[in-house]
Parts: sequence; structure tokens; C-alpha cells
Amino acid sequence: MRRKLVAGNWKMQGTGALLPELDAIGKGAAACGAEVMIAPAATLLATAKSMKLPISLGGQDCHEKHVGPHTGDISAEMLKDAGADYVILGHSERRTDYGETSEDVCDKALAAWDAGLGAIVCLGETLRQREAKNTLDIIGAQLALSVPDGATVENLVVAYEPVWAIGTGLVPTMDQIGEVHDFIRAKLATRFGANIADGVRLLYGGSVKPANAVEIFAVSNVDGALVGGASLKAADFLPIIQALSTQAEAA
Ligand code: PGA
Repeated sequence: MRRKLVAGNWKMQGTGALLPELDAIGKGAAACGAEVMIAPAATLLATAKSMKLPISLGGQDCHEKHVGPHTGDISAEMLKDAGADYVILGHSERRTDYGETSEDVCDKALAAWDAGLGAIVCLGETLRQREAKNTLDIIGAQLALSVPDGATVENLVVAYEPVWAIGTGLVPTMDQIGEVHDFIRAKLATRFGANIADGVRLLYGGSVKPANAVEIFAVSNVDGALVGGASLKAADFLPIIQALSTQAEAA
């Protein structure tokens, strides 16, 4: 049985002024069976850790090297040292803004694993690729190249995030989400075997909100969500966590 996971990605938002929201999310999460993870700005990680909330913490990116002259970068070890349990890798904003390739993501995932972090590897097609009916080809290629050999149930989470759904309010149909999640699970089974494929959690991301969470969480092979905008406020995030917990109890 896969433990459900709701992950919040705060992106480049959040000074210390946002910590009361983290506190409220942590307190609200305590009562639910799902795992809750927040990836705040790296500058907040150590403070967030010191709050001792019953949630996991994550970084939003890491360098593929362990140490060295890379001004402005952050290593997986540094994230771990500051309190992270996970790191989000290959988010479409990183792929677009910094030209990160799936090969880069793969190197970063290896660095994350070396540091003892779980890698949340993001995949997603653009609207043009979906309209050209290339979605599964794109997702298959990103999955194959971004995830290193050596994936386990503990060290890998895969997030399907259509680029056109991130921050736009647009959401694929439930059939479209199900098709991609089933495809990812099948590809993982072919490569890593049924046991690992059955245990790796697959998150949907892109405009998840309290109003659509129940419907999305009912889709086959959706084990949770990666949430951007709606993770910044406990009043939005807690109902999403609640929706997942209720669905898990009903299953
Ligand atoms: P959104 O972002 O929930 O604001 O669409 C999702 C993400 O970027 O992970």
C-alpha cells in the first residue's frame, strides 16, 4: 500500500513571514494519514526544521556535484544538512529557465541519493506536444532519461506535471491524467520490476486546488499531488491534504 503524499512547492516565494502558514500546515497535517512535504525557499529550511512539525521538508533543486566552486548553487548535502528529506528535480521551470535536460536531472538525482534525499522527479509535456499527440512519447523519454538506475520505493517519487497546467488554472481531464499515470507505472515496472513500480508514488501537479483535489485523487495511480500556488496558504493546502486522507481511508 503506497502512503499518499501531498507535496507543496513554495518556489521563489516566502520570507520568514510565511512561517506561520507552515506552522498551520504542520498542525493541520498532524491528524491526517498522508505524508505532507513542503519545499520552502532554501533560506527557510533550517528554521522550518527547527519548528519540529510532523511534515517532511524538501529542496527545490540541487547541483549535481557534491562540492566545489559553483557560486550560488546548493548541493544535495547542504539541503540534507539544513533539514531536507526530499529534493524536487526537473521541475518545468528549471527545465525552461535554465535549460536543464533530463540527463542533468538524472545526475542531480544521483547526487540526491548519495546525500540520502528522496528525489521527486518532475515530467511534463507542453501544450504543443499534447496537441501533436506526443504526450506519452515525451513522458516516456523524460522518465527514461531523468531517473537513474537504482531507483527504489524509498528514493524515488515521480510527479507528472503538464507544463500547460502549472499556474494556469488549466487541468487535464481525469482520463488524460489517468492515462499518463498508468503509463508511468507500466514503464517503471518494465525497467525496475513490479515490486518497485508498485511502491513508487506518482504525484499529479498543475493547478491542484481544494475544488479539484477530490476528483484528481480518485484517478487510478494518482498517489498524491505536487502543489504550487495552493500550498502557500494553510487555508488552501489543508483541504487538499484532507481530500487525500479521506480518499485513502475510503480505499
Ligand atoms: P501550481 O504549480 O499548483 O501553482 O499550478 C504546480 C507546480 O509547479 O508544481
